[in-house]
Amino acid sequence: MSKTRIAFIGAGNMATSLIGGLLAKGLDAAQIRASDPGAETRAKVAAEHGIELFADNAQAIQGADVIVIAVKPQAMKAVCQALRPHLLPHQLLVSIAAGITCASLLNWLGSQPLVRCMPNTPALLGKGVSGLYATADVSTEQRQLAEQLLSAVGIVVWVETEAQIDAVTAVSGSGPAYFFLLIEAMTDAGVKLGLPREVAKQLAEQTALGAAHMAVSSDVDAAELRRRVTSPAGTTEAAIKSFQADGFATMVEKALSAAAHRSAEMAEQLGQ
Ligand SMILES: NC(=O)c1ccc[n+]([C@@H]2O[C@H](COP(=O)([O-])OP(=O)(O)OC[C@H]3O[C@@H](n4cnc5c(N)ncnc54)[C@H](OP(=O)(O)O)[C@@H]3O)[C@@H](O)[C@H]2O)c1
Repeated sequence: MSKTRIAFIGAGNMATSLIGGLLAKGLDAAQIRASDPGAETRAKVAAEHGIELFADNAQAIQGADVIVIAVKPQAMKAVCQALRPHLLPHQLLVSIAAGITCASLLNWLGSQPLVRCMPNTPALLGKGVSGLYATADVSTEQRQLAEQLLSAVGIVVWVETEAQIDAVTAVSGSGPAYFFLLIEAMTDAGVKLGLPREVAKQLAEQTALGAAHMAVSSDVDAAELRRRVTSPAGTTEAAIKSFQADGFATMVEKALSAAAHRSAEMAEQLGQ
């Protein structure tokens, strides 16, 4: 990426996390440009990251190899349609907007190499995971570029079909909230069992973090890790049996199906 020039359309939370991550990885500030309608945002981002900011999107993309569209989904149509006459055929477009399909994007942008990404909120701390889907016009080099770009804020997985982006949305896109819900419920349960709220909260949060660390650093899967910490007739087994009797796996499956369904439904609405 040492010579790649990247333009960000929209300099909000996700764009600035990516910009910070790319600079931390060694990219030169001169390789990155961004545009945003907010004068205050432009001044803040320029001061923080030392990159050039523009009020005009068309100016920001001049000379760019990769254009990352990082505006809210509702603004995508107008932004893409306005960019269209200024695009060059070799420029890779990367969309991080939740719920906007490649068909809609290409309809607004015209024919361009396009990668659609689904990042998640921990990307704001460099701890994200993004699902990526490339259209047929994306070259191998451009796939690598997109992967390196999103790797600035976490890990990257590729999916084979665009429909799988709905599944990515259900698992990791919306996923942080599921863990927040579990932390919340464990904290409340700890309080009911007699702990001060702050203590219960710390125990629940650090347990989630520790368990996630164990899961990612272990060479066995989560089911095996669970078996290893579940002694017969012990305390963990009592809790796991109670979860299973209440249909925990079915509950999770139903919730993720609802998220995937909603993702597909929103794509239809936002694409019009
Ligand atoms: N944040 C996340 O965790 C997350 C996770 C997954 C996916 N995403 C996706 O990432 C995208 C950006 O989200 P975000 O959280 O970074 O939003 P954000 O903080 O609101 O950033 C969007 C920025 O784009 C600017 N903007 C609005 N209209 C524009 C235009 N016509 N041209 C150029 N810039 C324009 C906005 O300015 P104003 O504020 O002045 O309107 C704002 O500064 C969204 O599509 C979202 O679906 C975000």
